Amino acid sequence: MLYPVWTNRRCRHLWAAILFLATFWTPTLSNDKRPNFVLIMVDDLGIGDVGCFGNDTIRTPNIDRIASEGAKLTQHLTAEAICTPSRAAFLTGRYPVRMGMSASGHNWRYFPFVAGAGGLPQNETTFATLLNDAGYSTALVGKWHLGLNCKTSDDHCHHPNKHGFDFFFGTPITNFRECADGAETMYVNTRSYKRWRNACVAVFVGSLALLLLKVIGKNKMSWSAVFALLLIAPGLWIPTRFFFSHRLRRLNCILMNNDKLVAQPFDLEDDMTPRLLAKSLNFLRENQNRPFLLYHSFLKVHSALFATEQFRGRSRHGPYGDNVEEMDWAVGEILKEIDRLGMSENTFVYLSSDNGGHLEEITPEGEVHGGWNGIYKGGKAMGGWEGGIRVPTVLRWPRQIRPGTVISEPTSMMDVFPTVLRLAGTENPEDRVIDGRDMMPLLAGNRTVTEHEFLIHYCGESLAAARYRSSTGNSVYKAHYMTPIWDEGTGACYSAFACGCENSWVNHHDPPLLFDIANDPSESNLITPENEPKFAEIVANISRGVETHKKTLVSVESQFSLRKVLWRPWMQPCCNFPYCSCDLNETSPTMEKLLPVHEPTSAVPES
Ligand SMILES: *[C@@H]1O[C@H](CO)[C@@H](O)[C@H](O)[C@H]1NC(C)=O
Ligand SMILES: *[C@@H]1O[C@H](CO)[C@@H](O)[C@H](O)[C@H]1NC(C)=O
Ligand SMILES: *[C@@H]1O[C@H](CO)[C@@H](O)[C@H](O)[C@H]1NC(C)=O
Ligand SMILES: *[C@@H]1O[C@H](CO)[C@@H](O)[C@H](O)[C@H]1NC(C)=O
Ligand SMILES: *[C@@H]1O[C@H](CO)[C@@H](O)[C@H](O)[C@H]1NC(C)=O
Repeated sequence: MLYPVWTNRRCRHLWAAILFLATFWTPTLSNDKRPNFVLIMVDDLGIGDVGCFGNDTIRTPNIDRIASEGAKLTQHLTAEAICTPSRAAFLTGRYPVRMGMSASGHNWRYFPFVAGAGGLPQNETTFATLLNDAGYSTALVGKWHLGLNCKTSDDHCHHPNKHGFDFFFGTPITNFRECADGAETMYVNTRSYKRWRNACVAVFVGSLALLLLKVIGKNKMSWSAVFALLLIAPGLWIPTRFFFSHRLRRLNCILMNNDKLVAQPFDLEDDMTPRLLAKSLNFLRENQNRPFLLYHSFLKVHSALFATEQFRGRSRHGPYGDNVEEMDWAVGEILKEIDRLGMSENTFVYLSSDNGGHLEEITPEGEVHGGWNGIYKGGKAMGGWEGGIRVPTVLRWPRQIRPGTVISEPTSMMDVFPTVLRLAGTENPEDRVIDGRDMMPLLAGNRTVTEHEFLIHYCGESLAAARYRSSTGNSVYKAHYMTPIWDEGTGACYSAFACGCENSWVNHHDPPLLFDIANDPSESNLITPENEPKFAEIVANISRGVETHKKTLVSVESQFSLRKVLWRPWMQPCCNFPYCSCDLNETSPTMEKLLPVHEPTSAVPES
């Protein structure tokens, strides 16, 4: 008699064993339940520019939606008030000084040229690398700004592909003022540029005087010497003017698809936002069946401001407002795609800004092209003032974060690193100091006080301020050891393009300027020994924190030496020498396909 195979006793055991094993196998085969990550970085967005952070005239319904479906972090801090170091810290969970990613001795605290040699060192490990090693598919779309090459025009030693991103589409550097067709560079507003111009004028006037004296016979120099002197100033000034005019656009405003240069210079106005968005949406679709990490890094809302036609002139705040609203629209398209693919439950969404709004970003005509930092003092590029480092941050992960959560404890952008790793089931690297802390205990309500007893605020390599959250009480103290010197009677360095960190740019304070950020967020009530009996104790506790931090620092090679940041002609990427002009426009989507009709609903976003 024949029995079905499963009724045989031995076979039944075999089947049971197979089924038992299968329960272990399935998750790794097709049912990987590890969360996906969509990390969105906006460039220079101020905390006062966003609806859910109190703005009632700019429409940011999509960012507000992330906050209401997840959490809002009201004291989320960047590691520095400027893009390159801030982004380096974000990706590695470490203070920029630990990797030579902060400047000293000059005021280029970001990489000014694609053809420079500085960049995120190869032995630094980003969360993208660790997730990629753990089987995640990873992509960066948009701005990188952490270097490109070390020695030649295409060794790509600092390229995103070398730092854990399987896919890169975007610019290795950033959006600059001159990326708009025909626009002047920001350098024409810097003090160094003005000083150089004045020096050239002085030399020219001096040589004219010598010429005059020669004509009236009071100058014994030879005629050829006088004429040679006359040529010096124009000889210095004309190339400067040439280089720092809109011509930098050709050198810096480039777009790459992985290793390949696809646009030089890129075109902002036409379709940059949909072009980048399409890459991110494609990535989401292609990776819906495996764990992924998408880092969508906007070129917005940094100047040059640009908006597609549907958004031009639509906001109440000029081109800047149009930019914020278009950026928010793109955030909404990413959220919609996550929903449409049924991935909302399992996707950790984070949105922040690399630093505060840029107060000095004002056009020669007086139009404000930078962001607004609300009640907070200071802005981009300033050491420790809240406005430059407290950034609008929202996140959503329905699995563990309750809708409408608000966290007002200090958190750092460096916290994203350990948080993402833990959620992905990966460990922090053990061979180096990680400054970030897992945010999940705070977000899930298991912890009420931040793990950051101290946070250090740098301005380049200099210590600007330190924040102290004692485990008891409600105060969050901040001691400023150094503050930027603002233009008389203002709150920024309007006579330059950005404040500096050293020498004549700053005031040093000993004892430090002390504020209680928790109870005085706009830093307007100075704490002194007269109004606070514990002044000395608080300051001593903070300096203890600073000393402990300093002991963990080791000296590393600077990525910001002038030798590394300055333009190296032989390292200039060029898609078709000598023209350096192309736009492959490979998959540029048409606006009709991506843009829904933009309904001008009420000007006031619902909160
Ligand atoms: C909203 O943002 C705009 C643009 O940055 C700014 O001018 C305005 O003051 C902000 N409004 C509030 C209430 O913060
Ligand atoms: C929070 O606490 C609960 C209960 O103790 C625990 O199950 C959960 O894993 C904790 N979550 C985090 C993020 O610490
Ligand atoms: C200073 O630090 C000590 C030791 O951690 C602590 O007991 C004390 O409460 C702190 N003082 C203040 C004012 O925070
Ligand atoms: C990376 O290499 C540099 C130069 O060799 C070294 O100083 C630094 O400590 C290394 N960093 C890490 C995280 O290993
Ligand atoms: C790219 O292609 C699209 C659609 O074919 C077109 O509308 C757009 O103008 C092109 N952009 C550039 C920069 O050539």
